[in-house]
Amino acid sequence: MASHCNRQYFLNPRLSLQLLALVGTLTWHILVTAESATSIQLRGEVGGNVTFSCPTAKQKLRFLYFQRGEIFVNGYYESKTALEIAELAWKNTIMDHDKTTMHMYNLNVSHHGEYQCHFQYIGSSATHKQIIHLNLTANYSKPAPTVHCSDENHRFSCLVTCASHDGYPVNKVTWNVPGSQIWTVLNSSEMNDPKTMMVNSSSTAYFNCSNGNTSISCSVGNVSSDVFSVCIPIGPPPVPHSPVIEAICAVVGITITMLVLLLWWRCKKGQRGAAAVDFRRVNGCEEEATVHNESNEGKEAS
Ligand SMILES: *[C@@H]1O[C@H](CO)[C@@H](O)[C@H](O)[C@H]1NC(C)=O
Ligand SMILES: *[C@@H]1O[C@H](CO)[C@@H](O)[C@H](O)[C@H]1NC(C)=O
Ligand SMILES: *[C@@H]1O[C@H](CO)[C@@H](O)[C@H](O)[C@H]1NC(C)=O
Ligand SMILES: *[C@@H]1O[C@H](CO)[C@@H](O)[C@H](O)[C@H]1NC(C)=O
Ligand SMILES: *[C@@H]1O[C@H](CO)[C@@H](O)[C@H](O)[C@H]1NC(C)=O
Repeated sequence: MASHCNRQYFLNPRLSLQLLALVGTLTWHILVTAESATSIQLRGEVGGNVTFSCPTAKQKLRFLYFQRGEIFVNGYYESKTALEIAELAWKNTIMDHDKTTMHMYNLNVSHHGEYQCHFQYIGSSATHKQIIHLNLTANYSKPAPTVHCSDENHRFSCLVTCASHDGYPVNKVTWNVPGSQIWTVLNSSEMNDPKTMMVNSSSTAYFNCSNGNTSISCSVGNVSSDVFSVCIPIGPPPVPHSPVIEAICAVVGITITMLVLLLWWRCKKGQRGAAAVDFRRVNGCEEEATVHNESNEGKEAS
């Protein structure tokens, strides 16, 4: 532990003599370290905030500070003013008045990882150490599919690419495809932005369309694309909802309505004339109407 702390002060150029003076006496006590058996798991989102709490007893503290690797993050020292410490602290952090809590703002991927909290009570030479893990996530954008189909030599197939941006940590594109499809993933890539470390994830799949069109979707982590269709035949023009079809439907509809009305009218007429046809029992209105009709025609002809 002593060597650890010495490295902290000598290797990091940010830590000037000022800090050495600030915590110089610590190296004497640091030989006795009580490390907490369990580490604390913290969750945060890129762009968001997180609060580090170091669990202490209700005793007066000589110091309590957080460090990342060998780099001082922020803390409290009984012998120093908040202003003195703030000069050395990470600018996106603030110590709480309770002296054991640190707020970290505007998180980015570089903040992901392990931190330590070191503290010592007044009247004790033992230094306590607590490991804290900060796990950062960033939501991937909703995966956007692009579909390119071709019909070379009457072998219809499609290339589908799904791409999602700026997520963290690395997540592969997964495909949700019904078992009936013949398909294969050609390639997939997960690319870190060198500056932000955020990940773009994409995948290209080949669909052999011999089993017809299907609805599929793709996902990155728990973000899924809309369901979309692949292998929609390119040959015949898309006809549904064309004005021609709608016109034909309307004509057919009107014709059927007119036929029904005509039948109903003849049926009524038939019932009225039924008495004249001698109450002949027939199976249904149509037949009765027909019979009646024939007799009518007979009358008209004569
Ligand atoms: C990320 O996704 C989670 C779960 O869907 C949601 O609760 C959270 O608000 C999202 N974060 C952002 C920054 O959109
Ligand atoms: C699709 O698969 C079928 C059966 O395996 C095969 O006969 C056909 O040639 C394939 N089509 C393409 C476009 O690869
Ligand atoms: C994946 O394969 C497709 C089709 O061969 C190609 O257009 C695309 O550039 C490839 N993507 C990567 C990341 O290699
Ligand atoms: C990730 O995708 C975004 C949005 O398309 C783009 O601006 C950025 O350059 C991509 N980064 C990498 C590393 O490919
Ligand atoms: C989605 O995934 C992220 C990161 O993996 C996680 O933090 C979040 O809770 C998940 N949201 C849901 C609704 O499952």
